[in-house]
Amino acid sequence: MIGTQPFTVAIDGPAAAGKGTIGRAIAERFGLAHLDTGLLYRAVGAQVLTGADPVEAAQGLNAQALENDALRTAAVAQEASKVAVIPEVRAALLDFQRAFARRAGGAVLDGRDICTVICPQAEVKLFVTASPEVRARRRFDELEARGHGPVFEDVLRDVETRDRRDSERSAAPLKPAIGAEVLDTSEMGIEAAVAAAIAFVEQARG
Ligand code: C5P
Repeated sequence: MIGTQPFTVAIDGPAAAGKGTIGRAIAERFGLAHLDTGLLYRAVGAQVLTGADPVEAAQGLNAQALENDALRTAAVAQEASKVAVIPEVRAALLDFQRAFARRAGGAVLDGRDICTVICPQAEVKLFVTASPEVRARRRFDELEARGHGPVFEDVLRDVETRDRRDSERSAAPLKPAIGAEVLDTSEMGIEAAVAAAIAFVEQARG
């Protein structure tokens, strides 16, 4: 147990790098709350796809909107990365994420700008990455297991398009924060990546 002091594990990285799996495993192992911040942008993107204004959707977002399986589709992911470019959308989601990060008992957040913008003072900063092909393969397997019937080339193109949009935007671009531990999971498989991340948190806890 970490205790009642704030203790933040901040995880950034590109699409399908394994951040979510690693984040959930760390949360479970150390008894921390977990927030997949991509869901915030996906929830805004999903509302925009039904005609909402992105900034108004972000300002009016509530926790209930995050619990929706429909947020996992490729169309919503692409729209999420489009609304994520808008500075007013990011600003509307900032306070909620910062408060979550510093909650009593500790928290794990994963996303694109957690180490760089949301919580630069996090006790643990990780940048989880893998080659585009490996990430597309993982996302393909996930979509196939859910019965979506994906095509590998489409999944790879989606991953690369989002990588480009997320890295090249001027508001909170995706990049490893100074001082972040870089974990390249291309060659290691997800179990080994989880073990390495847990070992890193153990070390940081002292
Ligand atoms: O992590 P996930 O793939 O669910 O994120 C969907 C999109 O939301 C990303 O492609 C990115 O554009 C955006 N995002 C972001 N900042 C975060 C988390 C997600 O810009 N902290």
